[in-house]
Amino acid sequence: MTRKASALAPSNIAFIKYWGKRNPRLNTPFGGSISMNLSEYQTTTTVQFTQLNRDEVVIDGEVAVGKEEVRVARHIDRIRSLAGVRLGAQVESRNNFPVGVGIASSASGFAALTLAATRASGLRLSQKRLSALARLGSGSACRSIPDGFVEWVTGRRDQESYAFSIHPPDYWDIRDVVVLVSTKKKSVGSSEGHALARTSPFFRARIRSLDDRLRRLKRALRERDFSAFGRLVEEEALNMHAVMLTSTPPLVYWEPGTLAVMKQVGVWRARGMESYFTLDAGPTVHVMCRAGDAEVLARRLRRIPGVIEVSVNRPAVGARVVKEDLF
Ligand code: PMV
Repeated sequence: MTRKASALAPSNIAFIKYWGKRNPRLNTPFGGSISMNLSEYQTTTTVQFTQLNRDEVVIDGEVAVGKEEVRVARHIDRIRSLAGVRLGAQVESRNNFPVGVGIASSASGFAALTLAATRASGLRLSQKRLSALARLGSGSACRSIPDGFVEWVTGRRDQESYAFSIHPPDYWDIRDVVVLVSTKKKSVGSSEGHALARTSPFFRARIRSLDDRLRRLKRALRERDFSAFGRLVEEEALNMHAVMLTSTPPLVYWEPGTLAVMKQVGVWRARGMESYFTLDAGPTVHVMCRAGDAEVLARRLRRIPGVIEVSVNRPAVGARVVKEDLF
């Protein structure tokens, strides 16, 4: 048994999104989703199995407590039982970005944890199994395992719901310009949010229209048709947020800066700077553009009142084992 291993995993931005769980225990979705790994937002995690009979989890320098600790410990339990390991785990995890503002830290976090912990336990799983396992920690984490542009297939059973790469990172030179407009931790996390999705009167309509958008998005990617891609990405983000806004209680993830950026993207587009927004469960706006427009766009975005930070992301590889341990 290896005992100690480290992994690095990217966050991802969903173009077709996962909102609502068919089976909350398994984190299986109602429909497929598609995402791109982000080059600038990553989690690095080291896991060591020790003789201690308890787990110790440190995230961004602080000992995890409460729900956070339980969620990580449960995930390690899954890996312990797969590997037949009975040891306690020492876990240290570092994000290079603020957590809880709409950049999927649970995606990069559980992808890195899954890869590091399976390796430390001596397991060497296929990418498909790693992805399905990461999904049990956090749904969107299954999409941070494979490279580049990634599809998560719905699957009803545990092993059938996993993600795979549909195009490598260098397939298409597009950028996600990530615009932070708040660093406050959101008050309703995505786990609670998923549970509310079904209370929206629009939820069924969303699920019915999902397959069609998925097909159209895959075609736009295949044809590298940026305009068709962008229009769909915006349509999908607004569709998911319509469900959020109309659930009981309503989920309003937007801050004033969110709307300011969304509106401005439309104004610039009308004047010839072609970019499109998308948002996950938080106020952060992801502005999709062609590589050649990214720097000009980033400069303009930084001047919008309420914008805190802007970073240009390339399509990136998925989770990787790394040699440098955090402890
Ligand atoms: O993986 P979770 O449970 O944090 O859910 C992620 C949900 C969204 O980011 C809003 C959409 C998605 O597909 O990533």
